[in-house]
Amino acid sequence: MSMVTLTINGQKVTVPEGSTVLEAAEKLGISIPTFCHDPNLTKPGACRICVVEVQGARNLPASCVTPVTGGMVVETHSAAVLEARRTILDLILANHPLDCLTCEKSGACKLQEYAYEYGVAGTTFDGERHDYPLDDSNPYIVRDMNKCILCGKCVRACTEIKGQHAVDFARRGFETKVSAPLDNPLGESECVFCNNCVTVCPVGALSDKQLLGKGRAFEVEKEPVTCTFCDAGCEFDVVKRKGKVLGVAAKAAAVGRPLCLKGRLGLDFIHNPGRVNPPLMKDDNGQWVETPWEAALGLSEVVAKLARLKD
Ligand code: SF4
Ligand code: SF4
Ligand code: SF4
Ligand code: FES
Repeated sequence: MSMVTLTINGQKVTVPEGSTVLEAAEKLGISIPTFCHDPNLTKPGACRICVVEVQGARNLPASCVTPVTGGMVVETHSAAVLEARRTILDLILANHPLDCLTCEKSGACKLQEYAYEYGVAGTTFDGERHDYPLDDSNPYIVRDMNKCILCGKCVRACTEIKGQHAVDFARRGFETKVSAPLDNPLGESECVFCNNCVTVCPVGALSDKQLLGKGRAFEVEKEPVTCTFCDAGCEFDVVKRKGKVLGVAAKAAAVGRPLCLKGRLGLDFIHNPGRVNPPLMKDDNGQWVETPWEAALGLSEVVAKLARLKD
């Protein structure tokens, strides 16, 4: 494999030919903001928040789709780059509800994170705003298209990972939106509830209904598990708060198999009051007391009954 050496922010880095400037910067530990980029999906180069300055170039190219070339000199945080990123954030916020106080995504939202990082407190543009109704028609996903930044990750995840193509871009210009076919609610689409789109959405436009209002990203823990309901072995995250399981979340695009309904629905038993508890044994006073399973199963009566059942 041939390698290419370039300079980013004054540091030399060598990466395989065909790498992007974004990947080369990541190798140096330099963080460039991204909205539409996902390493597991195709690259549309659509949002432009990842622009960088390349010596000799006439404009600021998007680093996620710009291949490295030998001797390239790149600045990821020059004055021109910072101004461009601030303008992009300003434009996004011109048509975005600033609902961070109550938004499910607060604390894990890329728009919120970058607005903070680049010091963009609101918009300087005064224009029309969308006022879409919430789409609550899907049993597992709530869609708030007023918060959508049109990055297209959900469309690509649904098509490229799940192969379902339940959503796509509809309409044109200011009216452009992500929609199910014929602009029907998501509940009337071919959606199979894998929730990959929710996982890849960088903002609060898509929320997991199962987890709604139960805690935000910084209040919950995620534990990776492999589903045992069938032999496919899907991997997903169990979402917990203070030790109590709240639900499950699909992993990032292309990490493991997309989650199916068995893994999503088979949760109720965990905290079900009807679940078998530790065995009880009557003590000499006739009171029920908890007994370890080893002791309970070792009781001659239990052993005899199990043996009879086996026979
Ligand atoms: S999507 Fe992000 S920026 Fe928008 S309201 Fe929610 S947390 Fe705030
Ligand atoms: S949940 Fe899965 S199938 Fe449904 S829209 Fe999202 S990615 Fe597509
Ligand atoms: S719903 Fe989320 S993932 Fe889909 S285009 Fe909008 S912001 Fe991007
Ligand atoms: S992240 Fe590069 S163009 Fe969107």
